[in-house]
Amino acid sequence: MLWRSVLVLPILGVAAAAASIDECPGYTLRNVAESDSQITGDLILAGSACNTYGEDLNNLKLLVEYQTDSRLHVKIYDAKEQVYQIPKSILVPPSGQRDSSSQRSDLVFEYTKNPFSFAVQRSSNRETIFNTSGTNLIFESQYVRLRTSLPQNPNIYGLGEDSDSFRRETTDYTRTLWNTGQAFLPTHSNLYGSHPVYIEMRNGQAHGVFLSNSNGMDIKINQTAEDGQYLEYNTLGGVLDFYFMAGPAPADVARQYAGVVGIPVQQSYWTYGFHQCKYGYQDVMYVAEVVYNYSQAKIPLETMWTDIDYMDLRRTWTLDPERFSLHKMQELVAYLHNHDQQYILMVDPPVSLNDSTSYDTASDAGVLIKNNDGSTFVATMWPGAVSYVDWFHPNAQSFWTGQIKSFFDDQSGVGVDGMWIDMNEPANFCGYPCSNPVEVAIQGNDPPAPPPLRTTWDPLPGFPSDFQPPGSNSRIMRRDTSSANMTGLSGRNLNNPGYTIANGVGPLTVGTIWPELPEYGGYVQYDTHNLYASYMIEASRQGLLARRPSERPFIISRSTFAGDGIRGGHWTGDNASIWAHYLLSIVQNMEFASIFQIPMVGADVCGFNDNTTETLCARWAMLGAWYPFYRNHADITANYQEFYRWPLVTEAAQKAITARFQVLDYFYTAFYQQTVDGSPTTIIPLFFEYPNDPTTLDISYQFFFGPSILVSPVTTESSESVSLYLPPQDIFYDFWTGERVKPNGDSNTLNLDNVTYTDIPVHIRGGSIIPLRADAGNANTTAALRTHDFELLIAPDVDGRATGSLYLDDGKSIKPDRTSYLQFTYDSGHLSVNGTFDYDPGVGFKGVTVLSNGNQNGVNGGGNGTGTDSYGRIGLVRQIDEGFSGGWEVDV
Ligand SMILES: *[C@@H]1O[C@H](CO)[C@@H](O)[C@H](O)[C@H]1NC(C)=O
Ligand SMILES: *[C@@H]1O[C@H](CO)[C@@H](O)[C@H](O)[C@H]1NC(C)=O
Ligand SMILES: *[C@@H]1O[C@H](CO)[C@@H](O)[C@H](O)[C@H]1NC(C)=O
Ligand SMILES: *[C@@H]1O[C@H](CO)[C@@H](O)[C@H](O)[C@H]1NC(C)=O
Ligand SMILES: *[C@@H]1O[C@H](CO)[C@@H](O)[C@H](O)[C@H]1NC(C)=O
Ligand SMILES: *[C@@H]1O[C@H](CO)[C@@H](O)[C@H](O)[C@H]1NC(C)=O
Ligand SMILES: *[C@@H]1O[C@H](CO)[C@@H](O)[C@H](O)[C@H]1NC(C)=O
Ligand SMILES: *[C@@H]1O[C@H](CO)[C@@H](O)[C@H](O)[C@H]1NC(C)=O
Ligand SMILES: *[C@@H]1O[C@H](CO)[C@@H](O)[C@H](O)[C@H]1NC(C)=O
Repeated sequence: MLWRSVLVLPILGVAAAAASIDECPGYTLRNVAESDSQITGDLILAGSACNTYGEDLNNLKLLVEYQTDSRLHVKIYDAKEQVYQIPKSILVPPSGQRDSSSQRSDLVFEYTKNPFSFAVQRSSNRETIFNTSGTNLIFESQYVRLRTSLPQNPNIYGLGEDSDSFRRETTDYTRTLWNTGQAFLPTHSNLYGSHPVYIEMRNGQAHGVFLSNSNGMDIKINQTAEDGQYLEYNTLGGVLDFYFMAGPAPADVARQYAGVVGIPVQQSYWTYGFHQCKYGYQDVMYVAEVVYNYSQAKIPLETMWTDIDYMDLRRTWTLDPERFSLHKMQELVAYLHNHDQQYILMVDPPVSLNDSTSYDTASDAGVLIKNNDGSTFVATMWPGAVSYVDWFHPNAQSFWTGQIKSFFDDQSGVGVDGMWIDMNEPANFCGYPCSNPVEVAIQGNDPPAPPPLRTTWDPLPGFPSDFQPPGSNSRIMRRDTSSANMTGLSGRNLNNPGYTIANGVGPLTVGTIWPELPEYGGYVQYDTHNLYASYMIEASRQGLLARRPSERPFIISRSTFAGDGIRGGHWTGDNASIWAHYLLSIVQNMEFASIFQIPMVGADVCGFNDNTTETLCARWAMLGAWYPFYRNHADITANYQEFYRWPLVTEAAQKAITARFQVLDYFYTAFYQQTVDGSPTTIIPLFFEYPNDPTTLDISYQFFFGPSILVSPVTTESSESVSLYLPPQDIFYDFWTGERVKPNGDSNTLNLDNVTYTDIPVHIRGGSIIPLRADAGNANTTAALRTHDFELLIAPDVDGRATGSLYLDDGKSIKPDRTSYLQFTYDSGHLSVNGTFDYDPGVGFKGVTVLSNGNQNGVNGGGNGTGTDSYGRIGLVRQIDEGFSGGWEVDV
């Protein structure tokens, strides 16, 4: 959702620095107590306080825990434990674990007492991966600084959310973490989410560093003549709560990080279908017509979405009575559900002052954020004057659950199948001090209205006859302009910390609610800002569970913090219909899926802001089919961009969705694997798979979709050429033809110059067995797809061997009664299938196709010889008829 009315009032820093931070004395370590698995000590300020940004804390504590052999916990915190720490209610630290020791651990903690500094070494080769000795530790009430030296030109990944390069810039780079909504995703700026975790690659080995701190911060990566290369944390508060993860493979770091923040949650099978949305669908009839037109165009639409258009005067928890009446919304939902399709609505966090039903409920429950004087905080969002839910309040969950249960009631409300939560940084359009939130709403650059409502309407076959246009469009896009309060904020001190993080929108008050706002339990937004969305996702998840207790809640959130994969997914916000953002989506997907552990991720396909073009949309339709979350979405000011609007894009989308459907169970299995142990198995950067191949360190626009499928889209606009890297450690097969491909010359690159707008280069890694759904082109939903038989595609490695797996369950239950997990092994013409077979999908295995590796390693053990699979891939083919009652073997 575009947010356009930001009023940036620069507030110049006026902090009277008591002393330069260069004069801060650092700390001395005393009273060290060491055991095998733990070190503790006291850190005493080593000289006179510099009090640059608040006061230096005199007494700190050091805690070092050898938690597991591959994970070291280092925490530096105030002795009185008054400084804010991330609440355990949202990020549960791995507790009570001291299962390793300094002798056994892959990582060793070293320290210097005076001035205090510490280093972390890899025990196998004594490589120092973190070393803070270059500068003094600074721990002030509003500023904490710690710097580590790094090797020259380090290979650093992670530290999002942003729109910069995949491999981090190493000079003069600032990565600010302070959740903020910024349309068009400007580079070198903080965006919607905060993920203070990075992976560094050194000589083929990976390690990870997670700073569990939710305060606003600048992480600087720089190299200077005096200081060399470094990475420096500059936070506005909180404590230094570090988890060092030893790898040594990138995938190990991902699993170790999941061990700290949690493993991602499993998603329902249908969520991997194709989704359509647009801001600016004028009414429910129009939405229905989009559904109908997708069906007519034979493009499988799985889930329809509606943006804030459905709301009455943009108030969350209301329906526009004319354009999106309850009756017609229920008819739309019934139609979709009857066709095995789903429906999702956007939900914004604030409550409109003029929606007395919800507002009074929230207010009576006491769950709205208050000003310091006890009055309710009022600011401005889409509906005009609003107040914000205080997620810390003990009644917040019951309020939110109540809203979800009544508004989304399957009988009396709109029976949605998931929640799309937006503006949860949280966004606020009213600049500090917001003395008149109503006035801001009036002046707030109303977005343009969609085209005038049509008055004539051709009945849509299959839809109820009362699907008629409403009488008028009088209420479209109007905002409330009545009866809200001034809230007395003008007399307060702006919470304007002396240290200024490089917040892309300006001072901390811009675009969001004030840092000084108190929350229940003594918290303030200053500290918890970056967690606002996490609490909203969690509350929404609990609300959806209260409504459909056994089903996996599907939640897509704009804002996120470390660990939110355990409760939901993410779309990358308000990108633009530009080539750069088509490319950026690949980087963001890799980061979220493999580094941040939020694998249900995707970007708005064809681009959100501005008009897309036919060729960009065709390319993007084909790329998006290899996102975990595949949704076309556009802004209200952009032209319509449903795939069926152009013949070229229609063809691209049909081909792309058919391919996605072929491998949907393969991807479902890959996603499942990540939910078991955090293995990065969904959208995988090449360096994760080939850590010893330095070429992969700079590959940003090729990725694995699941462990076996390499996707290498065209990376140049208006081009049909791509030069793609084929790691020499493996052999590859063209996904579309089944032919083994070989790099041109010695470069290990494959140069293609005929990638049309309905093609995307996709390759299967040798050594893989991929379970395919047969005849996927004839499935118009994922429910239909689940009735299709399987066939196995075997892409042998150079020695004629391959493995694969298939996880199956009912596709939606949180705790499925029955599951099946099949393991496929192929060696020299012999396929064996083992595993557990408790869930019977009601279909069988009908064919096996073995692609040719060119080495005559495949043995034709009794099939029909060379033929094609049902998609035309040439190989050794055998028809079979096997079910799910137990293991089986066959020669091919
Ligand atoms: C940390 O860096 C300092 C300064 O370069 C160096 O003297 C020290 O040996 C390093 N410590 C470790 C454990 O590498
Ligand atoms: C990097 O170092 C240079 C040289 O000291 C300095 O001018 C620049 O501001 C630094 N950049 C950051 C992001 O700290
Ligand atoms: C649906 O398709 C019809 C026929 O091509 C077209 O007239 C109409 O504008 C389309 N409506 C939408 C919402 O796509
Ligand atoms: C899918 O195809 C079946 C069979 O033709 C049809 O009954 C059903 O309505 C279609 N569903 C959608 C969503 O188009
Ligand atoms: C609005 O103003 C009235 C009158 O000053 C006051 O009683 C009421 O509490 C205010 N409501 C809010 C939400 O601030
Ligand atoms: C998008 O296209 C429409 C009509 O085709 C045009 O009016 C509008 O200005 C375009 N928007 C942009 C941002 O170019
Ligand atoms: C593209 O060119 C390659 C090499 O010339 C050829 O093998 C392949 O069949 C062509 N693909 C298409 C889709 O035309
Ligand atoms: C699969 O089962 C066969 C016997 O049916 C057995 O020989 C083989 O070791 C099993 N393979 C695996 C990977 O468990
Ligand atoms: C060979 O193909 C024929 C015709 O498609 C089929 O009936 C037969 O089952 C196949 N045999 C094997 C071993 O796949």
